[in-house]
Amino acid sequence: MSRYAAVTTHLETPMHHRALFLSLALVATPLYAAGHSLHVVDTLEQRSPIRLTATQKSHIHLEMRMFLSNVQLIVNGIANNDMKMVAVAAHEAGMAATQDAPAKLSEKLPPAFNQMRLATHKAFDDLSRDADSLGDSAQALKQLGQIMNNCVNCHSTYRLETGRR
Ligand code: HEC
Repeated sequence: MSRYAAVTTHLETPMHHRALFLSLALVATPLYAAGHSLHVVDTLEQRSPIRLTATQKSHIHLEMRMFLSNVQLIVNGIANNDMKMVAVAAHEAGMAATQDAPAKLSEKLPPAFNQMRLATHKAFDDLSRDADSLGDSAQALKQLGQIMNNCVNCHSTYRLETGRR
């Protein structure tokens, strides 16, 4: 943005300044463009790998697909002002959902990952409880938005890997 602002300003300056600026711009632009696309690649590769067995990985994926389908139910519940549906779907995505996890899964997960994972389940329990007691769809939507910060943050931080390559 600032680069383009600079171009406009410099076009109004005397000719020799303008020529100097344009030649700098010709050098800088490809560098800027290259830096920009590298940045996208870097972002993908910066996700920390978590090594799991195939079973553990498929359990996390299952937990995730449950998150997504329950988010869908919650959004529909909010849209139809069906707070009972919101409460039930949020409860299913709460701590109750962790009970079928394979033994030792929590131990294999990096503590920061596991904390974010459990905090997300707990936040769904809070959403369920509040949807039940307050019956306020605007409040439920706000809480869902906060929960979804966790989805976004965790997805941009971690990826899963199995032992085999
Ligand atoms: C604690 C970290 C964490 C949180 C929180 C989290 N996810 Fe995930 N999610 C992951 C990881 C890790 C993967 C797998 C990425 C990979 O396979 O490399 C994943 C994958 C997924 C997938 C793909 C599943 C598949 O079968 O391929 C979906 C869908 C998904 N997440 C939805 C959600 C939703 C919706 C939320 C929030 C309600 C959420 N996730 C919260 C870490 C998280």
